[in-house]
Amino acid sequence: MSQNRYGLDIGSSNFKMCVRDKVLNEKNMIAVTRKEVVGIGDDAYDMYEKVPENIDVSFPVKSGVIADIYNMQILLSKFWQKINGGKKPMGVSDFFIVADAVGAGIDILNAKGIMMVDIGAETCEISVLSMGGIVNSRSVKIGGNKLDENIIYAVRNEYNLVIGNKTAERLKIGLACAGSNFNSRSMTGFGRNVLSGLPVSCQISDEIINDSIKDPLKAIVEEVRAILEHTPPELSVDIIKNGIFMTGGTSGIKNIDEMFRRSLNVTVKVVHTPQESIIRGLMRIMADSRMSELAYVPDDRLFE
Ligand SMILES: Nc1ncnc2c1ncn2[C@@H]1O[C@H](COP(=O)(O)OP(=O)(O)OP(=O)(O)O)[C@@H](O)[C@H]1O
Ligand SMILES: [Mg+2]
Repeated sequence: MSQNRYGLDIGSSNFKMCVRDKVLNEKNMIAVTRKEVVGIGDDAYDMYEKVPENIDVSFPVKSGVIADIYNMQILLSKFWQKINGGKKPMGVSDFFIVADAVGAGIDILNAKGIMMVDIGAETCEISVLSMGGIVNSRSVKIGGNKLDENIIYAVRNEYNLVIGNKTAERLKIGLACAGSNFNSRSMTGFGRNVLSGLPVSCQISDEIINDSIKDPLKAIVEEVRAILEHTPPELSVDIIKNGIFMTGGTSGIKNIDEMFRRSLNVTVKVVHTPQESIIRGLMRIMADSRMSELAYVPDDRLFE
């Protein structure tokens, strides 16, 4: 396979790209003024919610769809420059769901009855795979951003504190735990007091965070249950035997596997580095000629 073949996973929150053994994983964000680009990726995220009005910091992908094609093109070319000295893309492929399973280390060509649950920032993809193909899949608009939104709402209600998206994400990553386990931990949250309007900080307890994320996580469990119920019995037997594989950044929530296992009575495994499992799968597919049949590769000439 071509040495110039790149793998892309363009997410609502993170942009992942691989070429040969190199992986780039940065916030899918851009900061622009009217005249120029002032930041991309993680640098743009650092500026998020901190910049004056003349700088616009945004995510070009919304709900898993490229909503701002102009800025996405700029980001794409800048990330390419970053990962590999500005070479042009060749043979970008579209086989994300299968790649996810390959990244999880599953023998995708031979395995029968595999269920993958990829919980990203804005979408959750639930897929049933068998022998290299997709048997059934469903995309639900629930992900980490919904959890952040609920955290913002709960913190405002409980502490009269208005926090931004970045603080909500930090509290989620630092404190959130699925299920009913409260560890009596807390973290400092910075924001604005609703009543005085002044900037303040306050200790946020994990109980508030865990309570606020319960409903969206339960909704995902119910979607998985519905798919399991509509899976042919021969395949569901294999899914129960193999377990459900969870990927995507939001699978990083502590105890999420345990919560799914308890609710569905099926073994659940969160894959290693869940946020990067698609891109690691793409790396393996591109490097292993036996897997080339999994790839849809557009005509290279289109990219020259
Ligand atoms: N350790 C963690 N615990 C909980 N959530 C996490 C953790 N690490 C990352 N996340 C969340 O994971 C999400 C990003 O995951 P991912 O990169 O898989 O999404 P994406 O591919 O950009 O989005 P989508 O697939 O929905 O378009 C963000 O909401 C982020 O806050
Ligand atoms: Mg994703």
